[in-house]
Amino acid sequence: MDLEGIVSRALAAFRAARDVPSLENAKARFLGKGGELAAFRPSGSPEERRAQGAKFNAAKQTIEDALETRRKELAREKLNARLAEEALDVTLPARGRTRGSVHPVIRTWQRIEAIWRTLGFEVADGPEIETDWYSFTALNNPENHPARSMQDTFYVDLKDAGGIPLNLRPHTSPMQVRYARMHSPPIKVIAPGRTYRVDSDATHSPMFHQVECLWIDEDISFADLKGVYTEFLRRFFENDELEVRFRPSYFPFTEPSAEIDMKLKGRWLEISGSGQVHPAVVKNFGLDPERYIGFAFGSGLERLTMLRHGIDDLRLFFDGDLRFLAQFP
Ligand code: PHE
Repeated sequence: MDLEGIVSRALAAFRAARDVPSLENAKARFLGKGGELAAFRPSGSPEERRAQGAKFNAAKQTIEDALETRRKELAREKLNARLAEEALDVTLPARGRTRGSVHPVIRTWQRIEAIWRTLGFEVADGPEIETDWYSFTALNNPENHPARSMQDTFYVDLKDAGGIPLNLRPHTSPMQVRYARMHSPPIKVIAPGRTYRVDSDATHSPMFHQVECLWIDEDISFADLKGVYTEFLRRFFENDELEVRFRPSYFPFTEPSAEIDMKLKGRWLEISGSGQVHPAVVKNFGLDPERYIGFAFGSGLERLTMLRHGIDDLRLFFDGDLRFLAQFP
């Protein structure tokens, strides 16, 4: 057995190894169970065997030492490379201050507030953690109503909530009830804000924004909804010819209910849920449904923003990628 040959091949292999994995491979080739040294079998007379054994041990020691040395070298090289890479040049000039900008969805929020204020609506704000009653029951969604599970809702488990079931509001509609219970008619309000649903893909985000609108008085009709919503869309999209249509739909808290569509580049796109507020809900406002009537709608702010700017993936809003955000200076 050519021990010297093995030693010199091992040393060369270790030197050639440029990183830890290749060094460990080389180690296995020479020192491993199936490696070159493991094949060693002493032979001949007892003296000869003893002499061979001593040479074998010396060779093995040399290889192990070389391995250890190379390991340390590689570790030092890695550290040096990292130090060089992460070096802090204190002589570099400062980057200066750059100006941030308002997020496109928040800009939509601001535009919406401005437009509805000029149409004579108040702006209200309310909690994102809601009670079951405001999110569902008060809105005519009884306990086992299918619409209740339709909204895949985040439920909140709060120990000190006194046993009151809580959720992250799946829509801004609870604000109809909150606001109406604290104000007397005429009620003209919008309530923009964050909403939450268990949903995530190119057109759904678990957190998104809606704007709720409620107009209640003694004589508010669907015609008022049509007029005021069309006016809003035309101003929002800066297009006086924008076409709007109302399509029958279903929500437990409105009767009749309608989906509002707008026409964009020859296509009808759904933009809002709406309807005449259900008498049971007017009652939960603390008002007499025989006397008071009106409408409500809820529109998605992300959707309005996407249509206005031709954005096709909702996730862009929440990735925090400056290449996207910087396009809204
Ligand atoms: N809350 C409904 C939704 O999230 C929208 C809506 C609001 C419908 C008000 C009618 C009236 O889909």
